[in-house]
Formats: sequence, C-alpha cells, structure tokens
Amino acid sequence: MHKHYLMAPGPTPVPEEARLAMARELIHHRGDAFKEVMAEFRQGLQWLFETSSDVLALTCSGTGTFEAGIINFSRRDEKLIAIGGGKFGERWGDIGRAYGMNVVDVELEWGSHLEPDRLREVLAKHSDAAMVTLTASETSTGVFHPVRELAQVVREESNAIFAVDGITAVGVHHLPMDDWGIDLLVAGSQKAFGIPPGMGFIAASDRAWERAEVSDHPKYYFDLLRERGRQRDNQTAFTPAISVALALREVLRMMREEGRQALLRRHQRNAAATRAGLEALGFDLLASRPSDAVTAARAPEGITGPEVVRRMAQDQGMTIAGGQKDLKKSLIRIGHIGFFEASDIRMVLGALEAVMNDLGADVQPGVAMSAAQRVFLQD
Ligand SMILES: Cc1ncc(COP(=O)(O)O)c(C=O)c1O
Repeated sequence: MHKHYLMAPGPTPVPEEARLAMARELIHHRGDAFKEVMAEFRQGLQWLFETSSDVLALTCSGTGTFEAGIINFSRRDEKLIAIGGGKFGERWGDIGRAYGMNVVDVELEWGSHLEPDRLREVLAKHSDAAMVTLTASETSTGVFHPVRELAQVVREESNAIFAVDGITAVGVHHLPMDDWGIDLLVAGSQKAFGIPPGMGFIAASDRAWERAEVSDHPKYYFDLLRERGRQRDNQTAFTPAISVALALREVLRMMREEGRQALLRRHQRNAAATRAGLEALGFDLLASRPSDAVTAARAPEGITGPEVVRRMAQDQGMTIAGGQKDLKKSLIRIGHIGFFEASDIRMVLGALEAVMNDLGADVQPGVAMSAAQRVFLQD
C-alpha cells in the first residue's frame, strides 16, 4: 500500500472543503456567482493581511507578485535594496536587475537573519533607496526575519517602500501590514492557504499606490492600477484561476473560523515540536531565528540530506524538501505550513526516526516522538 503525504514547504496539502469546491461544475468568471465568491475572498484576504488596502488576487505564482510589486511601485532609474540570505530574498534583486534598476544586495550568510542595526548602516549609505525588499520567512533556510523592527528602520532612515515577501509568512506569523508599516505584502496560494498553486496575492499601502502613478517600467499583464480598478468591481482584468478562487473562499472561511490567534499558535507549536524532534535525532538546526513555516536542518555526520529525502519518499511515502544551492548536500527541510495538526508532526518525525535508523544512525526508538510530544503536552 502506498500512502502519500506532502510535508514540503509548498505546495501544501489541500483540505477536503477546498477539494470539493474545486470538484463542482466550473462557473464563469464574468457571472454574478463568481462576483459573490470574489467579494467574499477579497474581504477574507484583507482580514488575513490585517489591512484596509485592497489585496489583489493575481493569476500567477508567487514570483509573479514580486515582479508585479517591483514594476508597479518603483521607477527604472531607482535604487532597490535587496536583503539576501537565501534563494527568495536574493530573487528580488534579480528581478530588479532584470528591469534595469540599481540594485544593492545586502549579503547575509544563509541561515542567519538580518539585524535591524545592519539595515540602519546600509540605509545610512543608501538613503536614496526607493525600495527595500525582504523575504520575511526565507523558505530556503527556515529563517524568519524581525520584520517589525526592520520596517521601523526603513521608515526612520529612508522614504523607501518596504516590500515584504510573505509567501511563507502570511497565515503563519503575525504580520499586521497596516500596523507595522509594511508597504507591499505578497502571498501565494500554495502555502498557508493550502490550495493549489495558481494565485498570488499583493497588497499595497497608500504611499505605494502614489508611486504607482509615476512608475515607468514596461508592463501589461501586471498593470496593477488597471487590476485594482477591476477588482473593486469583484472582477479581474483577465481570466483568473477560477477553481483556485473557489477553493480560496473555502479556506479563508476555515481560517476565520479557527481564528487568527489559534491559527498562528497552531503553526508555532507544530514548528517547535518539529525542531525538538529533529534535534533529538541529531540534526543541527540551520536558522538563527526560526520560521514557523518550515524547519531546515543539517543531517548528522555521515548522512546526507538527499539520502534522507529520498528514503522518506521511497520508504515512508512522505515528501519533504532538500536543501538548495550550497546547502543541497547537507540539508533537509520539513514544511509545517498550512493545514497541519500535531498528528501530522508526530507522523513525519516517526517516519524520520525510522529512516535514520535504516541509515545506520544511533537513534533510540521514540526519541523524536517524545521530544515533540513534550512540546505538545506543555500547552
Ligand atoms: C518565501 C518564498 N518566496 C517566493 C517563492 C516563489 O514562489 P513561486 O514558486 O510560487 O513563484 C517561494 C516558493 O517556494 C517562497 O517560499
């Protein structure tokens, strides 16, 4: 028998309510039924982003929202400060360069977070920056940056737009956009929303929208001023991912029913239990400031990350992720973002314990499970 479990940091498992919504007869995106769906999910997104600004739903993957953010809220001759430290943080800089901007990369060792004082120093040298970009939860390293403090530094030291990739942070960590002065916040459907890939979400502050009026980057599909106009009528400029939209309404209902505090708390406990279990198995946690979406850890001496990932898939039916770039050989990453419960965490740790045993590691049966269980029973 082969059961399959998705425990990667996206795409994430899709709950039954969302699967059923997508299984129904397709509706037309210009009809009233779709407008009703869209009116509801637009409100739900504002609730989740904690913003009074429009949260636009775009039919694209997460990277599309980065590109849309840069080309709508900056100008070609402007300076963009890209906070690195991982694959996704660095991607913002690559997109800025692709559009001919003057990009300043803030290099960070993978696994470490950015200290606010370091950003203050960077901005002292580049106070003319028009945009500062940050990947809040860096999925390639499992780091969660101090977003609130960094937002404050951007405000104090510059007039830059603070653009935050919340693709594995929205719905996981507290990230109140308006309260914290985040100017751009983006998210993606296949992460905490627990629905298939296909939609990206982007919200912008009033000061960002003012910049949109003077932005001179070439754009067509991602013209967000046009898109905002259409979405205020519960329509999209072009054909949206209708099935994903139907699922989105369902999961936002589920999230609101669960409640923000409970949603974040669930992620927090699952992440803490995963970390405890991995450490008990001899893994070395990578992140200096861990994300509650994904845990990245180095395999113990003599065991390689790809071997663990392969065995987890082959022998246990569980998809976890490996490392990226320089961390390919050593790292494993377990996703606990989206609709996961304590039982899922116990399951993945139990399976990992079996794999480590098969690979010849000296692990006491039950050690990861009991470490995780202690976290769950503490609450
Ligand atoms: C934090 C983060 N940003 C951006 C992306 C890119 O999203 P996509 O692959 O949907 O374009 C990902 C995808 O894993 C991510 O985790």
